Amino acid sequence: MDTDRLLRELSDFLRIPSVSTNPSHNADCRAAAEWVAGELRRLGCREVQFLASDTHPVVWGVGPEVPGAPTLLIYGHYDVQPPEPLDEWTTPPFQPTVRDGKLFARGAADDKGQVFCLLKAIAAAPGRPPVNFRFLIEGEEEYGSRVLFELLHREPERTRADAVLIADMAYVAPRWPAVYTTLRGLCYAEITVRTAKSDLHSGEFGGAAPNAHEELARLLGRLKTPDGKVHVPGLYAPVRRPSKAELATWKRLPFKEGEFLKHRVQAKALTGLKSYSVLERLWALPTFEIHGITGGFTGDGAKTVIPAAATAKVSLRLVPDQKLSVVERQLAAAVRRLAPKHVQASVKFLHGADPATVKVTHPAFKLLDQAFREVVGRGTVPARAGGSIPVVPALGKGGAPVILTGIGLPDDRLHAPNEKLDLKQLWDGIEVFRRFYELLGT
Ligand code: BES
Ligand code: MN
Ligand code: MN
Repeated sequence: MDTDRLLRELSDFLRIPSVSTNPSHNADCRAAAEWVAGELRRLGCREVQFLASDTHPVVWGVGPEVPGAPTLLIYGHYDVQPPEPLDEWTTPPFQPTVRDGKLFARGAADDKGQVFCLLKAIAAAPGRPPVNFRFLIEGEEEYGSRVLFELLHREPERTRADAVLIADMAYVAPRWPAVYTTLRGLCYAEITVRTAKSDLHSGEFGGAAPNAHEELARLLGRLKTPDGKVHVPGLYAPVRRPSKAELATWKRLPFKEGEFLKHRVQAKALTGLKSYSVLERLWALPTFEIHGITGGFTGDGAKTVIPAAATAKVSLRLVPDQKLSVVERQLAAAVRRLAPKHVQASVKFLHGADPATVKVTHPAFKLLDQAFREVVGRGTVPARAGGSIPVVPALGKGGAPVILTGIGLPDDRLHAPNEKLDLKQLWDGIEVFRRFYELLGT
C-alpha cells in the first residue's frame, strides 16, 4: 500500500472546508463534491452525477457493471461540522497534520476519512472486486440531509441494492470493531421567548419589567428535571427498555463507566437518570440538550439592558420507537404549557431525523465479521449508537440490509476541536473493506 500517496490524497480532501450548515462555505461544499466525483471517475464509474442541489449536491455513481455480481450501495457524507472554537485546535482544522500516527483535521473521522477508506478499498483490490457498486455521497448530513431525503422520496429506486454499507461510526474500543443495530433520531429546534416590544434600560425598568433571558432560562430549566428526566409530556411513552439479552451483551463490552468519565467526558461527574446504566442512557433513552443561547448583550464590555427577546438552540435525541413528527408536536406543546402568560414563546424546527433500527442477521454481516476477524483479529460486536444519520431509515426502505460500521475510535473527538483519525485504523480499514468486497462477490 502506498501510504504516502494515500495520505497526500486524503489531506487534499480534508483541506476543503465543506461546512454544510454555513452558506459562506457553499462553494467549498461544491468543491468537496467535485473531489468525490473525481475519485469515482478514477474508480471507473460509468455514471457520475450531481443530484438535487447546486450547492450541496448528492454525488451519485454507478461502478463498472459485473454481470451476476451483487449490488452494494455505499453511503457517506463529504460535509463536516463547523470547526469552532478555533483557538482550541493544536493545528488548524483545515490543515491536516500527522502527529503520533494520528491525522488531525475536521472531517478526518467524520466522515471524509471513512469515505476515503471505502473508496480506496475498491482501488486496493487486484483487478476489481466482483461487485456492482453504487454510490450516494451527500453533502448535507450534518445539517439534516433534507436534499437527499427528498431525492430518495422521489426516486426510491436509487436504494435498490443487495446491501447498503455505511462507515460513519467507530469501533466500540481499540481492537473492538462493531456493527450498530440502532441509531438515535434527532429533533433540533430554536425556542424563542419575547417579553416586550424592544430592549429596555435596566435602571429605568429593572424591577418591574420582564426579562427575556430570565424567562427563557426558567423555561429551559423546566424542560428537564434535576435528575435528568426530560419533562415533555408523552415523550417516554413509546420507549422500550432493551431486552435482558441485549443488556447482557452490553455488559461484556469493554466499557467502564469510570473510565468513560475520566478519559472521555473529563468532567467531575456523569449526569442523567441514575437508575439506568450509562450505556442505556447513551443508547436507549431520549435526551434534551441546550446547544447555545443568544439575545440581549453578549459583546465586549458592559451594557445595562433588559433584553426583549432570547433564543435557545436545543435538540432532543430520540430512540426506537419514537417518531420525529410526534416529538415535534410534544415539544411545541410543552413549551406552550411551560411559558407564563406574559411571555410569547415560539418553537422553530430546524431539522431532524427518525431513529433507526437495523437487523444484523443478513449473511452480509457474517462476511464483514469475517473480514474484520482476518485483518484485525476480532470480529464485529453488535452495539447501539447515540448519534444520528438521518437518511438511514430511508436507505433501508427498499429492504436491503444497512450495514452500519466504521473505522473510527471512541476518542476521535467528532464535532470537537482536534478531531483525528488514527492512521493504523485507516490502513487496516482499507484491508478490511477490500476483503469484505472480495467475500461479498464470491
Ligand atoms: N457520524 C455521525 C453520527 C454518529 C456519531 C453515529 C457517533 C454514531 C456515533 C454523523 O455525522 C452525525 O454527526 N450526525 C448528526 C446528525 C444531525 C446533525 C442530523 C448528529 O448525530 O448530530
Ligand atoms: Mn458522520
Ligand atoms: Mn457528524
